Amino acid sequence: MVYRHESADRTPRGAESRSNVSMAAEGGLAMRIALISDIHGNEVALRAVLASIRATGVDQVICLGDVATLGPRPSAILDMLQELKCPCILGNHDEFMLDPELIRTYTEAPIVVDAVDWCRDRLSRDELAFLRTFQARLEIPLDAHSTLLVFHGSPRSHMEDLLANTPPEELDRRLAGHAATVMAGGHTHLQMLRQHRGTLLVNPGSVGLPFKEYANGGPPTLLHHAEYATVEAQGGAVNVSLHRVPVDRDALRAAVKACDNPMRGALLQQYA
Ligand SMILES: [Fe+2]
Ligand SMILES: [Fe+2]
Repeated sequence: MVYRHESADRTPRGAESRSNVSMAAEGGLAMRIALISDIHGNEVALRAVLASIRATGVDQVICLGDVATLGPRPSAILDMLQELKCPCILGNHDEFMLDPELIRTYTEAPIVVDAVDWCRDRLSRDELAFLRTFQARLEIPLDAHSTLLVFHGSPRSHMEDLLANTPPEELDRRLAGHAATVMAGGHTHLQMLRQHRGTLLVNPGSVGLPFKEYANGGPPTLLHHAEYATVEAQGGAVNVSLHRVPVDRDALRAAVKACDNPMRGALLQQYA
């Protein structure tokens, strides 16, 4: 699938994307990447975000993980990601599909545990095999001067937060051993752009479950849009943009009503 309307002849596509990314970097061409994260089974929101990305045009989409759980349409998301052939990072909720005990080390909230178990029960062997291809981290050259490092929570853990108010010394520990012009992770469901000792830290927010404020283990309040980010570089210039896309709430409600996910009641309350 091509995401740029113009200059499509140099647009990286699918499985060849990493080598094409390198070729663009060596040639000093502009590289524009869309970062999507924390889709959480929300097909309506993912379709809205992909339409926005197509309208803007990018060279590459990268998914930062937490793709299937909690929302009504886990398999639809996995189908769409496989069709996109975009690199995917392993989120904690993706690993919850592969390791059934792991969720209990993360939360004891029954509604979340039940929703994760519900999702796992619905995934096929092929869908689980697809999740096993997700990587912990990925480093991408943006141009001859700039690199992008992507992960889910922090470079060292898919369960760790990088927040706007994380103390700098704690950030040093969470980012230790890694260097890049731009570092991007999801997981908190909060959009963020922060400069830390010269590095731009980006959180694209959440496609499917954007939070109004830091949840800190409690029940979140959802925002009424879908979120993503773009990173663009050319000749040492770097631009990061945070995007918010309107979502059809009637379609969201209909999708949730049609499923028997344990989160159904809580989601319908949020979408009322
Ligand atoms: Fe998430
Ligand atoms: Fe996460």
